[in-house]
Amino acid sequence: MKTRITEMFGIQHPIIQGGMHFVGFAELAAAVSNAGGLGIITGLTQRTPELLANEIRRCREMTDKPFGVNLTFLPTVSSPDYPGYIKAIIDGGIQAVETAGNNPQKWLPALHEAGIKVIHKCTSVRHSLKAQSIGCDAVSVDGFECGGHPGEDDVPNFILLPRAADELKIPFVASGGMADGRSLVAALALGAEGMNMGTRFIATKEAPVHENVKQAIVAASELDTRLVMRPLRNTERVLRNAAVDRLLEKERALGANLKFEDIIGEVAGVYPKIMLEGTMDVGAWSCGMVAGLIHDVPTVKELIDRIMAEADDIIRKRLAGFVTA
Ligand SMILES: Cc1cc2nc3c(=O)[nH]c(=O)nc-3n(C[C@H](O)[C@H](O)[C@H](O)COP(=O)(O)O)c2cc1C
Repeated sequence: MKTRITEMFGIQHPIIQGGMHFVGFAELAAAVSNAGGLGIITGLTQRTPELLANEIRRCREMTDKPFGVNLTFLPTVSSPDYPGYIKAIIDGGIQAVETAGNNPQKWLPALHEAGIKVIHKCTSVRHSLKAQSIGCDAVSVDGFECGGHPGEDDVPNFILLPRAADELKIPFVASGGMADGRSLVAALALGAEGMNMGTRFIATKEAPVHENVKQAIVAASELDTRLVMRPLRNTERVLRNAAVDRLLEKERALGANLKFEDIIGEVAGVYPKIMLEGTMDVGAWSCGMVAGLIHDVPTVKELIDRIMAEADDIIRKRLAGFVTA
């Protein structure tokens, strides 16, 4: 399939793997890129720029296809060495960067000078237009259904994507709730030129996370996610568990007085314990409503091949069959 997204990133299929904390290691990024999509290493999961440089080298040993790095500018407990990460990305010969969170404007000149294409993840049309106006090359439009941070506007993709299509000139991918060939064809119909998946890629053989995480996603339905940290305007969609119930109870009890320190036990530093050790109830971890559409743990190549075959089938047979002469 050929779209402005496949052309921009030099990939075979218009499928991107979104950056995911303690999931987006070299193994997953390489598997996605080898299967014809765009794999993304999560920059901040690597504690230092040196470690990111090493992860980029590891990924390069596993694939000769293009892959990217995610740089997230969100409120974090520590203040990351962003100039160092940018240098590691440029020196590592990376050609695609997925930015997310705060405005990436400050870093665009250095990235563009190095020939890097920047796709900024946005949860609203106004942020997408801002990304376009500051010179981002593409946007990943992340609807309310998404795992991770859906923003504060709560607009689902059936509205958000066509609204983005009406306003944007640069290409965009649909993100949030994407799982299969149906998702891809729907995303294309609504004006996107590809799709970005997070949760779906965790439940794959190559995702270097504990088996418990994959099984939790397979077992979950579309009813099992919750929004946390809304009172802090840092909303995150997570899979419900004991820690999330505790966190929500604190949010209810403290109301507008809630501070980050009140919930630090449920959210700070929990990812390695969940993703690597499989201690599922230790804290809140991002997961999309799309869990309801995930029933297996295929290899990344099986998943991507299946998506592309299904999309082809829908376009050529199902949709073409509806068109009357
Ligand atoms: C476990 C997990 C961790 C994530 N971590 C990040 C992150 O560090 N930075 C980021 O920009 N997005 C992050 N995301 C969001 C994804 O990149 C992607 O936008 C989102 O998962 C899309 O929604 P979906 O899960 O419905 O596919 C994360 C998502 C998940 C599920």
